[in-house]
Amino acid sequence: MTEPARDRLGRPLHDLRVSVTDRCNFRCHYCMPREVFGPGFAFVPREQLLSFEEITRVVRLATELGVRKVRLTGGEPLLRRDLDQLVASIAAIDGVDDLAMTTNGALLAGHAHRLRKAGLRRITVSLDSVDPEVFTRMADTAVPLSQVLDGVAAATDAGFTGIKLNAVVQRGVNDGGILDLVDYARRNGHVMRFIEYMDVGNTNGWLLDQVVPARELRDVVHTRWPLVPVDPGYPGEVARRYRFADGAGEVGFVTSVTEPFCGSCSRARLTAVGELYTCLFAGAGSDVRALLRGGHDDDAVRDFLGQVWQQRSDRYSELRSAGTAGLHRVEMSYLGG
Ligand code: GTP
Ligand code: 5AD
Ligand code: SF4
Ligand code: SF4
Repeated sequence: MTEPARDRLGRPLHDLRVSVTDRCNFRCHYCMPREVFGPGFAFVPREQLLSFEEITRVVRLATELGVRKVRLTGGEPLLRRDLDQLVASIAAIDGVDDLAMTTNGALLAGHAHRLRKAGLRRITVSLDSVDPEVFTRMADTAVPLSQVLDGVAAATDAGFTGIKLNAVVQRGVNDGGILDLVDYARRNGHVMRFIEYMDVGNTNGWLLDQVVPARELRDVVHTRWPLVPVDPGYPGEVARRYRFADGAGEVGFVTSVTEPFCGSCSRARLTAVGELYTCLFAGAGSDVRALLRGGHDDDAVRDFLGQVWQQRSDRYSELRSAGTAGLHRVEMSYLGG
C-alpha cells in the first residue's frame, strides 16, 4: 500500500464518512429544527443522489489514498432503500478495515440482521435520553423511544458487539439524565458516548451556555462510577475514552467545543450528492460527482480526491470565536455529522 495522502498540516487521510441521504424521520431541535426542515423544505431530488455504484467507486479510490475506516451516515441512512447492498459492495473493497454506520435506530429492528450479513462491522445509535418524554421533546418525532431501544436490542441479537450510543448533551434539556443513560449502556454492554453540543450549521440557534463541558459530564459519571482513562484505539480517535474501574465497560466524551481535536483530524466527508468536505464546519465542498458523471477515469478521480485533501488546512474547532460565529456552514443533516 502507498503512503496516505497528507494535508497542509501533515494530517493523514484515514476516515471517510459517507452520507447516503439528507432526509431524516426525526427532527432533533439541535440538528433539523422543524421550523426550518418543515413540509416545504427542499430535500435533494433522487436523481441527484450518488448511486451505490458511484459511492463504491469513490470509496475504492479513497482507500488508495489512505482511507481505512468508512462510516455511513445521513440524515438517517436507513431511509435509503436497499442500504445493505451498498454495505456489501463497500465491505468487499480491499483496504476497508472498518465499516460502521450511525443511525437514529428507529428502523434498525427491521434491518439489523441484513446489515450484519452484508458485512457491516459496527453500529452507533444516537440516543439522547432514556426518558420517553425527554427523548420525544428532543427528537420531535412520532417514533417512540421504545422503538429505538428495540432497534438497539435487535442489533445485539444480530451479533453486533461494542454498540455505541451517542448522546448530544444540552444544558437544561437532557443533562439531568446522563447517569440513566450510562446505567442503561452498562447494563446492556454498550458504550455510552456524550457529545458536546456543537455550532454546526446555521439553523439550530446554538449558544455557548447550552454546551455542557465534557469535563463536567465526566465528573458526574466518575462520582457515581469511578473512571480510568484509556489510550485512544487509533491515532485521531474522536472520543476521549474511559473504562469503569469496576470492569463494566467503557464510556467516551466528544469534546469538540471545550477541547478541540483538529490536530489529529483525519476525516473526509462525502455528501449524498457527491461533494467532498474536509471539515464538519465548512461552508462548501468539492464536486466529485461532476467527475464521476463526466466520464473521467479512476486516475483523474483519485487525483482530484487527493488534491482536495492535500490542499486542506481546516481546524475550525480550534479557531472557533466570535469571528467564526457568522460564517456560513453546511447543515449537519446534509453533511452527515
Ligand atoms: P468511532 O468510529 O466509533 O470512533 O466513531 P466516530 O467518533 O468516528 O464517529 P461518530 O459518528 O460516532 O462521532 C461522534 C460524533 O462526534 C459525531 O456525531 C460528531 O458529532 C462528532 N464528530 C465526529 N467527527 C468529528 C470531527 O471531525 N470534528 C468534530 N468537530 N466533531 C466530530
Ligand atoms: N452537535 C453535536 N452533535 C450533533 N449531532 C447532530 N447535530 C449535532 C450538534 N449540533 C450528532 C447526532 C448524531 C450524529 C450524527 O451527530 O446526535 O449522533
Ligand atoms: Fe436525524 Fe440524527 Fe439529525 Fe436527529 S441528529 S435529526 S436523528 S440526522
Ligand atoms: Fe476536523 Fe473540522 Fe472537526 Fe476540526 S472542526 S476536528 S478540522 S472536522
